[in-house]
Amino acid sequence: MDELELARQEIDRADADLAAAFVRRMEAASRIAQYKKERGIPVFDPAREARVLEQNARRVEDPCLREEYLRLLKCAMALSRARQRRLGAETGDTLWVESERGGYGVTVARGALARAGELFDLDRRVLVVTDRGVPAGYAAALAERCGEPVTVTLDEGAAGKSLSGAKRLWSVMLEHGFTRTDCVCAVGGGSVGDTAGFAAACWMRGVDFYNVPTTLLAQADASIGGKTGLDVCGVKNSVGAFWPPRAVLIDPDLLKTLPPRLLAEGMAEIVKTAVVRDGELLAEIEAGDPYEKIETLLLRALKIKRALVEADERDEGPRRLLNFGHTVGHGVEALSGGALYHGECVALGMLPMCAPALRARLTALLQRLGLPTRCALEPEAVVAAALHDKKRTARGIAAVFADEAGAGYCREISPDELKSRIETGWNR
Ligand SMILES: NC(=O)c1ccc[n+]([C@@H]2O[C@H](COP(=O)([O-])OP(=O)(O)OC[C@H]3O[C@@H](n4cnc5c(N)ncnc54)[C@H](O)[C@@H]3O)[C@@H](O)[C@H]2O)c1
Repeated sequence: MDELELARQEIDRADADLAAAFVRRMEAASRIAQYKKERGIPVFDPAREARVLEQNARRVEDPCLREEYLRLLKCAMALSRARQRRLGAETGDTLWVESERGGYGVTVARGALARAGELFDLDRRVLVVTDRGVPAGYAAALAERCGEPVTVTLDEGAAGKSLSGAKRLWSVMLEHGFTRTDCVCAVGGGSVGDTAGFAAACWMRGVDFYNVPTTLLAQADASIGGKTGLDVCGVKNSVGAFWPPRAVLIDPDLLKTLPPRLLAEGMAEIVKTAVVRDGELLAEIEAGDPYEKIETLLLRALKIKRALVEADERDEGPRRLLNFGHTVGHGVEALSGGALYHGECVALGMLPMCAPALRARLTALLQRLGLPTRCALEPEAVVAAALHDKKRTARGIAAVFADEAGAGYCREISPDELKSRIETGWNR
């Protein structure tokens, strides 16, 4: 055995020790979280952390190695803290999402809108943002629970998600003397959430933002991850900011007023998440009426999105798996001239990226959900439109694939391969 092999074996043994030590550390952190939660003790204990670092620094003699080791230890301590925060904040219906700005709770429960006063800090000036298509009672119910509510109703959808929509919010905030300690709360679909979130990110360089998503797409997808943005100069999301909310409230009862087609397009996003990351969730959607167990499906899909977002808040790595169906989907969306909804385009976009057996399974499910699986567009035209997508690379297009349920992966695809996949992927 040569030197390289011996050193690698040593590394393997050290990694095994590290894994076991890490598991022990996190299990102990969980016990501490429980203890602190029961007694109301704060998670962050700076004095204890400083002592731990000092004690352990003495264990490593080499000064350069010591600095590197301390970086590793600080990382482990940050993970322990995050676990403690999560366990402290999580209940049966609330997920905790770690973020650059400190993390936030996402509560998923029927009737949760009535708990807004307890879940959000609303005892101040609150800009309540909604749009003309959202039943007015939802924003009114939220406003009732605010100290000083100011409600703005934007134009529906993309018309409101614009610079002029955001400008309207800022002028109302100016008119009502909003300061850095006031906040913004969205009550609406992804369009309202993106506009209100962006307005909050910019107002006085950032004020608190709360979100009450009211479409299934916004509840399942736009509610976490911290992306906000506007469509400017006709380009979707061309201006935006990462501005995570302070808290999110998801009330599936608000979906009762949503037209069936909008409900189905939201379900396409849950299916997408299941196909790339969770085969069991896919089976759960297939079994029975998915809308009857929407809370369970939402919580599960949000846990997957949370894991991807926490690992990659800035969308530079694993979070890209959530672009499954979007390469072809964007091509279809560009050519359909608004006739198809985004989720419908994603449904069509997923099929060519699956291996045949999974595609057959997905086709049956999408049809049952009322989503399209047939498309008359020419594959060549779809590829040309998809090539305008921002995910284009030197060798072709970066895309996400799934050969079996729950196991999505990214790789580059040439325009020719994409065209032939579309030819076989759709019922034509
Ligand atoms: N920030 C993110 O991470 C993220 C993720 C996905 C999508 N988005 C964005 O979200 C937008 C699309 O969001 P959307 O699909 O929710 O559409 P939307 O916000 O445009 O809403 C669609 C329609 O449904 C109406 N509506 C909303 N809630 C309703 C309810 N409960 N009952 C009846 N009608 C209701 C709206 O008034 C609107 O007419 C896009 O701009 C997209 O870019 C953002």
